[in-house]
Amino acid sequence: MEIDILTLFPEMFEGPFNYSILKRAREKGLVNINLYNVRDWTADKHHKVDDYCFGGGAGMVMMVEPVVRCLEDLQSRTKYDDIIYMSPDGELLTQRIANQMSLQQNLLILCGHYKGIDERIRERFISREISIGDYVLSGGEMAAMVVTDAVVRLLPGVLNDETSALSDSFQDNLLSPPVYTRPAEFRGMKVPDVLLSGNDKEIVKWRHEQSLERTRKRRPGLLDDQAKSF
Ligand code: ADE
Repeated sequence: MEIDILTLFPEMFEGPFNYSILKRAREKGLVNINLYNVRDWTADKHHKVDDYCFGGGAGMVMMVEPVVRCLEDLQSRTKYDDIIYMSPDGELLTQRIANQMSLQQNLLILCGHYKGIDERIRERFISREISIGDYVLSGGEMAAMVVTDAVVRLLPGVLNDETSALSDSFQDNLLSPPVYTRPAEFRGMKVPDVLLSGNDKEIVKWRHEQSLERTRKRRPGLLDDQAKSF
């Protein structure tokens, strides 16, 4: 998979993309993540990328020209399955969307900054807008990191244990069951006996019950969503 990210702040991505699972996925060649600085596509000598909002109002808007020049340049080299704009106006990121995106080959993610991007970019170029939650971030960068992480960990071969993505919270609209590791007892707090029993059938059953119970208590709405999807 190729993920091209357009941003004014490529350095922001250096930390998150260079650790743990994302780092390993890149090293194994399972994903190529390319960062592009929109500023490199400005025509004016001051490399101006933002300007005042027509009609007045506080905050700057990312200008149409550098973003469009950048998009057209990249599109002349790659045919994207989706051109995504990170925005609080977009559809809310869910595991279902991450699953869908993980099946695509070439994604482009545009990160807005300041007050957002000129609407004409959205109209002409953007095929999908994604929000990571009903709150406003200072820019789309952190949201793009979240989407990239959620998608890349689903690519075949990224996780060591192929089944572990399947048992994540939300994969079947259920929260994960509790997990424990050694020691079996800590300051009088014991790991549930069933997990030490070696009885795989009982363990699977217990985990499913715990998942249901936890979902019912903490996120009952997920069970309604599950009912709707059948
Ligand atoms: N940009 C600013 N806020 C955002 C959000 N909640 N999700 C995605 N992109 C954003």
